[in-house]
Amino acid sequence: MTNADQSLLDEVARLRAELDDANHRYYVLDDPSLTDADYDRRLRRLQELEAAHPALVTPDSPTQRVGAPPDAGFPEIEHAVPMLSLDNAFSEEELAAFVARVAERLEVEGDAIAFCCEPKLDGAAVSLVYEEGVLITGATRGDGRTGEGITSNLRTLRSIPLRLRGDAPPALLEVRGEVTIDHASFEAMNARARAEEAKVFANPRNAAAGSLRQLDPRVTATRPLTFSAYQVARIEPPQGDATHSALMAHLGDFGFRTSRELAVVTGAAGIIDYCRRLGEKRDGLDYDIDGVVIKVDDLRLQRELGFVARAPRWAIAFKFPAQEQTTRLNDVEFQVGRTGAITPVARLEPVSVAGVTVSNATLHNADEIARLGVMIGDTVAIRRAGDVIPQVVRVMKELRPSDAREIVFPERCPVCEAEIERLEGEVVARCSGGLYCAAQRKEALKHFASRRALDIDGLGEKLIEALVERDWVTTPADLFRLEAERLAELPRMGAKSSENLVAALAKARATTLARFIYALGIREVGEATAANLARHFGTLEALMSAEQADLEAVEDVGPIVAAHVHTFFRQPHNRETVDDLIACGLRWEEEAVGERPQPLAGQTWVLTGTLASMTRDEGKARLQALGAKVAGSVSKKTAGLVAGEAAGSKLEKAMQLGVPVLDEAAFLERLAAWEAGERERASHQGSDEEGEA
Ligand code: IVH
Repeated sequence: MTNADQSLLDEVARLRAELDDANHRYYVLDDPSLTDADYDRRLRRLQELEAAHPALVTPDSPTQRVGAPPDAGFPEIEHAVPMLSLDNAFSEEELAAFVARVAERLEVEGDAIAFCCEPKLDGAAVSLVYEEGVLITGATRGDGRTGEGITSNLRTLRSIPLRLRGDAPPALLEVRGEVTIDHASFEAMNARARAEEAKVFANPRNAAAGSLRQLDPRVTATRPLTFSAYQVARIEPPQGDATHSALMAHLGDFGFRTSRELAVVTGAAGIIDYCRRLGEKRDGLDYDIDGVVIKVDDLRLQRELGFVARAPRWAIAFKFPAQEQTTRLNDVEFQVGRTGAITPVARLEPVSVAGVTVSNATLHNADEIARLGVMIGDTVAIRRAGDVIPQVVRVMKELRPSDAREIVFPERCPVCEAEIERLEGEVVARCSGGLYCAAQRKEALKHFASRRALDIDGLGEKLIEALVERDWVTTPADLFRLEAERLAELPRMGAKSSENLVAALAKARATTLARFIYALGIREVGEATAANLARHFGTLEALMSAEQADLEAVEDVGPIVAAHVHTFFRQPHNRETVDDLIACGLRWEEEAVGERPQPLAGQTWVLTGTLASMTRDEGKARLQALGAKVAGSVSKKTAGLVAGEAAGSKLEKAMQLGVPVLDEAAFLERLAAWEAGERERASHQGSDEEGEA
């Protein structure tokens, strides 16, 4: 072999290892190491090398995830070990009875038995077979004995290793787990489907199952699916793991995602405590769970207990209350948002869904009403998950009463009576009243004053409504002309609170360019985009005079966002508002222009306790500006914890795990150094580019 051949092989091997690592860090550990651009660059390079040297392509190469042509149908795959179901427990008494049964059969005390508890993921079950460390087949559960071979589709999931990690893979491994879609991705996927008038899914479980059964793997590849392993069906040769929990850790070493909530407890009391705690956490999780799976941890005891009919004796599923309920649709009202978007809101007969009383749900838009075929008076299925706004997912048309009424979309704005427009190709109908519409004005002002925008202390929803209703405030600039004496005439506004508000307005005049851009409420311009625009253009003048193409050159800004920004600054009344705000004394320091160097890219930081010199949100924004991800909880992958006054359990956990901890003084010092480094490097980069040009 020549040196050139060897260096080619080395480069291919290095790129594959780097890409596999990046996938593992991103999709399994939730701890990204490469930026998207760095990942894409490596993937493209590997694709080029493989195209030039086809003999080097291997089935487990990261380029081969979406290789297979569409299937004509799915082959049957017989499960070597049947995929069983679980018995259910619906109460703590039934959990205690399960422990008593297990204890009796094993002839030991229930309190002495260790159980592994983990969330019952609500998705689609699949089974993966690896031979000599390489993924050979993947199948659905089917009827438990025979499933459908969906190997090409499962290969597109980047949380599924194509080759097991580590040097000594077992000769045979069959892993089972659940394919799920997290809430944020599910919402985004359905929003896109609604905009494109494509299929909308009722819940993440249906979306996951449907995505896995696509005949074209390229379609599956676009779906945000995650595989989490929860069981080893076969492993040869045996690896000596004595417990289910040890096996799960072993799967983690092979490169699989396993539950972060997994815990080993003892006895009925331990199980009940776990189920209560997970139940409390359920709403805060970003994925659907429908209960807890409890397994005897000791694998020898599992074998001793064996199976009855179609379920193991050593495991049980504790079921949480359902996230879907049915109720009556009493009426539909139409709300007007900040950008004039008209949203139909279902007024429901109040119903308790997984512990929360729900009386409103969104119906999204006219197309959604048509798709559902819903009428006032219908019985509807509603779904509530986590923080997501409750949705109407289905209509029980067979229960429709004879006096059901059609839902009529208004032709005029219910607030200002301006015409409602629906532009060609858009699903959303909008009030054309702009800032003349009191509803839009109120929403725009609320946004302008909100914490992440100009952060005007004391200017809440009620006060904004009172100001708009009296026509004291039409544009945001009017806020800065309010006088304390006049404010004191408003209900519930004394002299003191009026003065405080005027002082807060004075303080809010000094802001940042990023906040100012965000506060303007340009469509599709959220906080992150506003920060990118500020960093890229440096001055408001540069941003306002940017052409469409200049805007598209900004990180994460596509043609649609660019068009919204461009149009916004071409409207004379928007320019007047901006000028007026500047005339009222709004100001900021100019941002350093240039590509964003990110010394903390790939790192996850956590903030806890109270900081004296800034709010936690500010601290978070400054870390994010340096490229860090900011998380809510500490794990062993946390790069650092910033601990303010009265830091509690997070500080404890960080110390236990050996995560570096910064107190406020150390944090400020490091921030200053990172931010100074950022500016220095930013200006170097600028001059380099000029030198080359
Ligand atoms: S263990 C012998 N663990 O629940 C059965 N199942 O009714 C071993 N599921 O179809 C299953 N999360 O798809 C197990 N952490 C978990 C699970 C889990 C979800 C599903 C699984 C199965 C069903 C059992």
